[in-house]
Formats: sequence, structure tokens, C-alpha cells
Amino acid sequence: MGFLHSLLLALCLVLNLVFVCNGGRTSTFVRKVEKTIDMPLDSDVFDVPSGYNAPQQVHITQGDHVGKAVIVSWVTEDEPGSNAVRYWSKNSKQKRLAKGKIVTYRFFNYTSGFIHHTTIRNLEYNTKYYYEVGLGNTTRQFWFTTPPEIGPDVPYTFGLIGDLGQSYDSNKTLSHYELNPTKGQTVLFVGDLSYADNYPNHDNVRWDTWGRFAERSVAYQPWIWTVGNHELDFAPEIGETKPFKPYSHRYRTPYKASQSTSPFWYSIKRASAHIIVLASYSAYGKYTPQYKWLEQELPKVNRTETPWLIVLMHSPWYNSYNYHYMEGESMRVMYEPWFVKYKVDVVYAGHVHAYERSERVSNVAYNVVNGICTPIKDQSAPVYITIGDGGNLEGLATNMTEPQPEYSAYREASFGHAIFDIKNRTHAHYSWHRNQDGYSVEADSHWFFNRFWHPVDDSTTHVSH
Ligand SMILES: [Fe+2]
Repeated sequence: MGFLHSLLLALCLVLNLVFVCNGGRTSTFVRKVEKTIDMPLDSDVFDVPSGYNAPQQVHITQGDHVGKAVIVSWVTEDEPGSNAVRYWSKNSKQKRLAKGKIVTYRFFNYTSGFIHHTTIRNLEYNTKYYYEVGLGNTTRQFWFTTPPEIGPDVPYTFGLIGDLGQSYDSNKTLSHYELNPTKGQTVLFVGDLSYADNYPNHDNVRWDTWGRFAERSVAYQPWIWTVGNHELDFAPEIGETKPFKPYSHRYRTPYKASQSTSPFWYSIKRASAHIIVLASYSAYGKYTPQYKWLEQELPKVNRTETPWLIVLMHSPWYNSYNYHYMEGESMRVMYEPWFVKYKVDVVYAGHVHAYERSERVSNVAYNVVNGICTPIKDQSAPVYITIGDGGNLEGLATNMTEPQPEYSAYREASFGHAIFDIKNRTHAHYSWHRNQDGYSVEADSHWFFNRFWHPVDDSTTHVSH
């Protein structure tokens, strides 16, 4: 028995050693290679709702800094129609009206419908509201639930989707998110929505189809928007020189509530999370408006009120695929020391059409004289997650740098979505779900320990004793 026991112990030690010595993991899952193609215009997910001037492309997002307001947006095609939203809480029969604005825009030979944006304010926390748009013509009804009051131990579940597009795979990603038994209450969207710019003259009809496709989720729960490169729509060859024109007419953010001067970078508080959204394609160097905003924003984060500090951006800082390699580097050089100083819990990015999760690492020692430029393990640093795997028509990023860098904990070239499920001030459960599995299969998962309240090592390659 003694001998057997020793043998087992030795075996365990060897296995442990292997576990410790291994850096990250590249998934052995190999996806069947299929072409990623957009759904045709006559697909049912793009159906125009019936009825005269029926509101379409209905979508909501948070409308203030604390979660007591909602921006409701929709498009009417026949005439402007009413700009009002009628809304009431589940517990009250009293119906209220909120009025908003209507905008239109032209893009080359395309003219938009009437785009409505109405903000509903002074809502009660943790309450189901019904709302109606299209008053006076074809009225459509939807609902949403406001978040609980902000507090350090408030559980809340965020979905994570990036680079979605409108292919058959995009449709699978959205369905898997909707059918995940862990119900996401709000989507953190890390940029690249419609991919209309892949069509001749950036055919903006594909912005409309995307709006109709996403409605089944975003009319009922807020999506928090991050701007990506496919929102730029910068096309001087056809005379379109105003960046972000279609996106900024169609999608609104509550940027003024966080003293931002631009809709592309801002912050919100929701439940127990403080979420900072950054813009990879707006100036971020020293002295720029984004730099100055972030510099004054980070000290305002109160971890006693909102323990979880989450950052969203489009272009990842840590990415070991041979796609968009080091595109996030200049922003990393500018802001990474702040992320470490303020102990950001997690950074979500998109852009690379695959999945990757990093260890907690930083790379802030470098200067031109010392040449120190290797990422090191750092328990004050965020975990970096690339989730640009929504499934758009450009297809998967499959080519990876080899060997896998030590900072890369897990990587896999598959489409999917993720869930960040906050339990309390110390723990959050994170899971990534590839499309090829059942809804509830966690292809990658991770327990996050909060960097402010429970800053112990939560890395997957760490062996605890
Ligand atoms: Fe992108």
C-alpha cells in the first residue's frame, strides 16, 4: 500500500508539473470549415413588420449613468409618424408618454427612413415596463426590465457579443445567447454591427436588415454599444467623408451622463458594475478629449459601490492571432498603466474573429532605454478577452502565432458568445459558449475574483496549495 501510495503521489506531482509548466491552451476543437455567408435579403429574420408605417429595428440601450433611463430607438419608413413612446410599469396601470427626436441621413445613393430616438427617464429600479411605439399608425408593443439599484453585492448577468454581422452564423450566435439557460440581462457589445460596409457603396440597406435581425433581443434588453472599424463608413471615393455617419444616426449612447463629449467613449453604472467604453478609432493620445476623459473617469470609480470594473473596446491589446496583430498596441501603450493602477477586472474586445482569454498580465515596464517588453504576470492587471466571434461574413480568424504566448490562457477559432455572471462583490462566473455545442456547454470558463475585494490569484494555470 505504501509503495502504491508513493507511486500515486509521484504521479500526481508529475501531472502537476505538466500542468504548471504548460502555458496557455490552444483548443483542439477544429471547426468544420464552411464559408460564412450573409443571410439573403428575403430571410425571415429580416421581415419588415406588417402594417402602415410600422416601427421596425426597435432597439434600446441604457439612457443615463445609473440605469434609471432607457433610450428607445426605431425606424419608420412611410412617414415620420409619432416620436412618442407610451410606457407603463407592470404594477401600474398609469400610462406615460415620452417624446423624442427624429433624424434622417443620406449616404451616397441611399436615404434612410425616419430614425426615432426617445429617452424614457425616472424609471423605478428592478421593474418590468411595457412600451409601445408607432402610436397613431401601426403600434407595436415590447417590454424591458430595469436593473436593480446599484450596490456592491447585486448579482447581474451580462451577455458578451462582438463582430456580429448578419450571416447564418450570426443568427446561430444570437439564438444561442437567447437560449442560454443563464439568462443575460444586458448585452455588452464590443463593436462591428452590420458589416454593411462590405457591400458596394456600403449598401446601407444592410444597416436596416441588421436592425430588424437584432430586434428580437435588443428591443427587450439593452445592448451597450462600442464602436468598431465597421462603423466608420469612411468612403471618400463616393464622397462620404464623415466617419461613423450611419452608426451615429442609428445608435445612441448616454455619453453626456458621464461627462464625455463624444458618443463613442463613455461610462455607465449598472447593478454592481462600472463599465467604461473606449473608442479604438477616435484619437486617444495624450491631450486628446478621450485621454482627458479617461484620466478623470478612472478616479471616479467607486469600488465600494460598483466593485466590478469592466472595460469595453473594439481592437484588443493582447491578441495572439495573425489577424489585426498589434493593432491595439498604441492604445495599450497609452492606457495600460492606468488599467493596472485602477485594477480593472476585465477588458472585453472584438475585432479578431475568434476567441481568446489571457492571464492577468501587464507590459508596462518598457521604455526606449531599458528595452523591457515582455508581458509579465500581474495580479493588479485585468484579464483580456477577445470575443470578436459573433459570426460575420468575413469568416473566422484561424491562423495563430506559434508557439502560444505565455500570457494567452485559452484560444479557439470558433464562433460563439459569452456570459459574465456577477454573483457578489468577490466572485463572477464567466463562460464562453461555442456555437457548435448545445446552448449550455461551457467550452471555456473562469471564476473571476474581484481585483478590489478579493485580489487573490485566479489564473487557470496557477496551482493552489
Ligand atoms: Fe473589427
